[in-house]
Amino acid sequence: MRKKFIAGNWKMYTNRDAATKLASAVLEGAKAVGGVDVAVCPPFPYLGLVADIVKGSSVRLGAQNIYPEKEGAFTGEVSPDMLVDMGCQLVILGHSERRHKMGEDDAFINKKTHAALAAGLQVILCLGETLAEREANQTEKVLDVQTTKGLEGITAETLGRIVIAYEPVWAIGTGKTASPQQAQDAHAFLRKRVSQLVGDAAAAKLIIQYGGSVNPGNAATLLSQPDVDGALVGGASLKQDQFLAIVQAGA
Ligand code: PGA
Repeated sequence: MRKKFIAGNWKMYTNRDAATKLASAVLEGAKAVGGVDVAVCPPFPYLGLVADIVKGSSVRLGAQNIYPEKEGAFTGEVSPDMLVDMGCQLVILGHSERRHKMGEDDAFINKKTHAALAAGLQVILCLGETLAEREANQTEKVLDVQTTKGLEGITAETLGRIVIAYEPVWAIGTGKTASPQQAQDAHAFLRKRVSQLVGDAAAAKLIIQYGGSVNPGNAATLLSQPDVDGALVGGASLKQDQFLAIVQAGA
C-alpha cells in the first residue's frame, strides 16, 4: 500500500512573514491528519526559517532546484550538500517551469537527480507533456523519453528515494486539470515504463504524484485513482486552508 504524499511547491512566492505563517499553519494542520506524508518547498532564502519551524515534525522540507556539483565557482548556484546542511530532505527537479523557461533538458535533470541522491536527498522528478504534444497524440512518447532519460542510471535501490510528479504543462497554473481518467492513464503508463526500466517490485512502490491545478474541489477524485499516489500543489499550497484540505483528501 503506497502512502499518499502531498507536497507544496511555493515557487517564487511568499516573503519572510508569509513563509513563517504558512509553514506554522501547515505544521499545526498536518499534526491533526495522519496517514499521509506532507512536504513544503519554499524558495531558497526562506529554507532556513522554515527548517526551524518544521524541525522534528513529520513535515518534510524541500527545495525547488540544485546545481549538480558539490561546491565550486558557480556564482548564484546552490549545491545539494548546502540544502542538506540547511535541513532539507528533498528537492523538486525537472519542473516544467525550469524545463521550458530556463531551458533545462533531460540530461541535465538526470545529472541533478544523481547529485541530489548522492547528497542524501529525496527527489521529486517532474515530467509531463505540453498541450501541443497532447493534441498531437504524443503524450506517451514524451513521457517515455522523459522517464527513460530522467531515470538513466537509476537502480531499484535508488528509485526508493525518487518520487515522480506527472504534471501536464497545460494544467500547471491554468486552472485546467487533467481529468481523473487522463491522470490515471498517464500514471499507469509511467509505472509500466518504470517497471520495464527498473523492475516490477520497485515500480510497484514508486510514489507518482499528480500536479496541475490541484485544489480542494478536485483533490479527492484525483487521489482516488489507483495509480495517483499524491499531489504536487502550486497555487493552492500558498493558502493554508486549501493546502490542508488537499492533505486531508489524501488521508
Ligand atoms: P499549480 O502548480 O498547482 O499552481 O498548477 C503545480 C506545480 O507547478 O507544481
